[in-house]
Amino acid sequence: MEEFAERQYEYIDKLREMIAQRSADLGRAMTACVVTFGCQMNARDSEKLTGILREAGFVMTEDENADFVIYNTCTIRDNANQKVYGRLGVLNGYKKKNPQMKIAMCGCMPQEEKVIAKLKESYPFVDLVFGTHNLYRFAELLYETYQRPKGMLVEIWQKEGEIVEELPVERKYSFKSGINIMFGCNNFCTYCIVPYVRGRERSRDPREILQEIERLVQDGVVEIMLLGQNVNSYGKNLEGGISFAELLREVEKVEGLKRIRFMTSHPKDLSDELIRVMKESKKICRHLHLPLQSGSNRILKAMNRGYTKERYLEVAEKLRREIPDIAITTDIIVGFPGETPEDVQETIDVIRKVQYDNAFTFIYSPRTGTPAASMEQVPEEQVHREFDLVLKCVQDTARAQVGRYEGQVMEALVEEVNDGGNAPEALKELSASEGEVLLTGRLSNNTIVHFPGRADQVGSLIMVRLKECHGFYYLGNQEE
Ligand code: 5AD
Ligand code: SF4
Repeated sequence: MEEFAERQYEYIDKLREMIAQRSADLGRAMTACVVTFGCQMNARDSEKLTGILREAGFVMTEDENADFVIYNTCTIRDNANQKVYGRLGVLNGYKKKNPQMKIAMCGCMPQEEKVIAKLKESYPFVDLVFGTHNLYRFAELLYETYQRPKGMLVEIWQKEGEIVEELPVERKYSFKSGINIMFGCNNFCTYCIVPYVRGRERSRDPREILQEIERLVQDGVVEIMLLGQNVNSYGKNLEGGISFAELLREVEKVEGLKRIRFMTSHPKDLSDELIRVMKESKKICRHLHLPLQSGSNRILKAMNRGYTKERYLEVAEKLRREIPDIAITTDIIVGFPGETPEDVQETIDVIRKVQYDNAFTFIYSPRTGTPAASMEQVPEEQVHREFDLVLKCVQDTARAQVGRYEGQVMEALVEEVNDGGNAPEALKELSASEGEVLLTGRLSNNTIVHFPGRADQVGSLIMVRLKECHGFYYLGNQEE
């Protein structure tokens, strides 16, 4: 693995020289902007892109009118793609005014052949395109892009390559970090494009994961999120076998680490051992994201989810029984091919029984190449009607769930200063007294709490009284 990283470091050196030269010629610093679409995996990948750009000498900016802009894309639903195409058009306008500008696209979208064809046909001003499997080659690809007079450099690997994790990373938050424990997915849910664009499941060596966590903690990180498409099957392809629950036990031992989160759990692989480890742990957060997708056995089968409504409910009940303060959140798809109003009632039944703390509800989006895309689609008006029903039910249960801690004192990790721009009205009333600002913190169960405090408290764990619940967040006060 190391030789792959070494080669990239050589390209980072070359880039640094080249960018310094260009900045000198321009008489100003070269700027770069990374725009992230999609999930936590992409967010982590963007930190890798940012790390390399910064090392190469770019000044990072959030303004897309920059010398280098890269879109790290998502293709899980079609609206994610449409958003990207729309914004590429805007970038072209900037590029016409700044001949220096280079535009790149990476992530899940370019893994689809039809996307490459569309870029070549309608977006020829894009300079660099690469996918999910060769992200670690970014430095080299970027250098090559600058060496070419013109034209689109496209490098897409159809198959997963090595896991290369030794490259620069710039974390968005100094005190918390995602960490990849596995890549890809073998489940092939019939609606999902992830196995096609992220490849087969590969787990990282546990020793490497632990070393990375230790390094992060030394660097000031107190909360980590273990990332994978299906963390519950972690370790299955590793020699010597280690389960996800065993990995968690090891991570728990890392001194100085305060909180552990993970994403995403597949209900079919959730073991009793994992529930036990969570229950006994002092560090694993009281939150489990457990995608349901549908409550109808017929639809679950057509989705190839590998569990029944009854089995899911059993797992959820066990979680609530063993860990009473756990928050359970979920993903639900409405409008999967063949779904009837009766099927949707089954989903609503599960929502009522599980009483989710939060749920993301999606309208089914056909993805080219997946089995469900060629099944008979549900009429649009029906889908919208059902979607509204599901959403209403989710909102009602979530409000009641989130509010159950009103008046209690809980520990929050302070994540940021709330600049007030999007501060809720009720929060402004709390109006921080002199010298104080409004802070936003996250409870172990993932609920957000806003409270007055000092800016230098960002990154610390603080006891907060949850005074008032406002739907999905709390207003609070620090406990002396
Ligand atoms: N259409 C709608 N939602 C989808 N998801 C995955 N694929 C699709 C699709 N084709 C949802 C699932 C998954 C979440 C990340 O996105 O609910 O859990
Ligand atoms: Fe997609 Fe299913 Fe894999 Fe999740 S488990 S990434 S929904 S195929």
